[in-house]
Amino acid sequence: MGLPCSVYYGWSGCILGVRSGTGELMSVNNFPGGADGAPHGALNASTSFLKVTMPALTEMKRQGKAICALTAYDYSSARLADEAGIDLILVGDSLAMVVLGHDNTLAVNVDEMLHHTRAVRRGVRRALLVADMPFGSYHGTVDEGVANAIRFVKEAGAEAVKIEGARVELVRALIEAEIPVVGHLGLTPQSLHRMGGYRVQARTADAVLKLRADAQALAEAGAGALVLEGVPREVAAAITAELPIPTIGIGAGPDCDGQILVFHDLVGLTFAPAAKFVRRYADAGAVIRSAIEEYHEDVERRAFPSDEESYHLPEPERRALEVTEKTGTLKKD
Ligand code: KIV
Repeated sequence: MGLPCSVYYGWSGCILGVRSGTGELMSVNNFPGGADGAPHGALNASTSFLKVTMPALTEMKRQGKAICALTAYDYSSARLADEAGIDLILVGDSLAMVVLGHDNTLAVNVDEMLHHTRAVRRGVRRALLVADMPFGSYHGTVDEGVANAIRFVKEAGAEAVKIEGARVELVRALIEAEIPVVGHLGLTPQSLHRMGGYRVQARTADAVLKLRADAQALAEAGAGALVLEGVPREVAAAITAELPIPTIGIGAGPDCDGQILVFHDLVGLTFAPAAKFVRRYADAGAVIRSAIEEYHEDVERRAFPSDEESYHLPEPERRALEVTEKTGTLKKD
């Protein structure tokens, strides 16, 4: 028996007769990643929780509740983010840079993104899981874009895909194929070469009008949410006010319906100076670096492992071996 309807009415409306796999109220047994896929310590078999869905994000906007989104690229970071109550977890193509060490996001391919999305899937239960479509996977025909997006849902358990740019026809086709879409406008890192660098976008009246029209067109085509990156606060605020779907900002000021950060930026695991819009909530890089240095020192001075950190032979076997060494024959008690 689930919670009374009124408890989750606020998210997406009361559902009459929840069919398996369609309900907002999920338990570990109908978790999309599978009951055995991710044995979360924090969630035991009787735990029920409100699964975040794409319609739930629109409801949050309607209710004025801030949407908190974060990227994740592997099981442990995904699990930490999910258990911390993050609403939307994005397997961003930023993994090309922060995980794989590329200079930009262009090199990562569909198979690599699928690999990371599967790992994240195993760590996420409550959050909406969105996979970024990498550069080249949706820049050809609409059919190719849809076929690649289907792989993220079918092979990796994504609940939505994110695409950059005003690709209205593709958004329509994805919705037609039952794949929820998050749009991404403004500073779109996959357009790096066209933009001539990572520059704040929409700084002229013409560019603002074009961005607003693109945002409107994506929403009309069926996008369920829109990431706004690297745009002036005033522009993001205007788009947020006029769109029926939630905006999720990164470098777009505080007036968006939600915010997203790159996991490695938030915890201080990056090597370049942080962008202006990044707030670092921890210095995990320093913590990890000093842990590794301490380990290194301990191994060098043979202080690790200790006797307590070692396995030991059972006493009778040890004694038998001692006798063997003395007499040359194996003799047990
Ligand atoms: O790739 C990414 O991480 C992103 C978000 C930061 C919006 O696109």
